[in-house]
Amino acid sequence: MSFRKIKFPKIILAPLSDVSDLPFRLLNRGFGCKFAYCQMVSTRALINNKPKTEELLRSNFRDRPLGIQLLADDPEVLKKTLFMLRSYRYDTIDLNAGCPTPKVAKKGHGAGLLKDLKRLKTLIDTLVRFSDKPATIKIRTGWSEDSLVAVEIAKMAEDAGLSAIFIHGRTRQQGYEGEVDYKTIKEVKSAVKIPVIASGNIFSGELAKKMLDETNCDGIMVARGSLGNPWIFKEIDYFLKKGKIIKKPSVNQLKKVIKKHVNLNCKFYGEKIGILKFRKHFSWYARNVRYSRSARNLGFSAKSVKELYQIIDKLQ
Ligand SMILES: Cc1cc2nc3c(=O)[nH]c(=O)nc-3n(C[C@H](O)[C@H](O)[C@H](O)COP(=O)(O)O)c2cc1C
Repeated sequence: MSFRKIKFPKIILAPLSDVSDLPFRLLNRGFGCKFAYCQMVSTRALINNKPKTEELLRSNFRDRPLGIQLLADDPEVLKKTLFMLRSYRYDTIDLNAGCPTPKVAKKGHGAGLLKDLKRLKTLIDTLVRFSDKPATIKIRTGWSEDSLVAVEIAKMAEDAGLSAIFIHGRTRQQGYEGEVDYKTIKEVKSAVKIPVIASGNIFSGELAKKMLDETNCDGIMVARGSLGNPWIFKEIDYFLKKGKIIKKPSVNQLKKVIKKHVNLNCKFYGEKIGILKFRKHFSWYARNVRYSRSARNLGFSAKSVKELYQIIDKLQ
């Protein structure tokens, strides 16, 4: 089966549920992120016309190139979703086969698919057949250490016509903790010709290089490393090119970026919701300042942009 080609850059912003909304993506794009993903959306919620789900896919012309990621368990629902998405603007579509959350995985979505390769194959075939965009899959190494199925899935994905594979180098059982399994990622890379993009502990330029060197993967996905830290894209790029660590931003630079992010959030969601949704971002930014705990508490109490700006101005 021939596959639709897509050229991914070396560094990609991962889909991050409840995090990678339009303001977050635009902010990171301003720091050198060249490809970003929306947070995952449920195919069932989309075809049932849930307005909140559609909001997760809102984008604009500056938010390109863009990937959409779907949670799916039923090929018919997936097919309907793919037809519905034909009126949306995006560049590539991904099937989530890695989300470890019990309410997702136990229902046979996300990482649950790692235990049901027959169903996974039907979903992949549906994706390839009915998507009008290059299609990919994001997997984990397996459900648990004694069921590492990544290589088998990768071969199946390539044979079916998927355009690339994203792999988080942990099992579902590991969640987000524990060591990254570079060996299995390397085996996946050797097993297929389509691009393999790796995820797991990409927290610095050094760790990005380690992932590339140890697995021979084609690219890397930045996830938790981007929380409160849009500089990571420049940091990785600089380290890969020069082998040196870039200077950390000053507190004044940090303040400017926090304000920019607040503004993007309030423009997108309106002031009240924008401030509420900013709380988690504020606590991530506050990790990089002195007195981070009291700063974080203050950030949580702000009810308007003006109040939040006053708190940001006091950071040191
Ligand atoms: C808050 C959060 C939300 C995430 N949401 C998604 C998601 O929607 N889809 C997905 O495929 N992976 C999701 N992931 C997994 C990441 O994309 C990534 O594979 C994982 O965090 C490993 O990378 P890291 O160790 O560099 O964080 C999420 C991770 C976190 C921490």
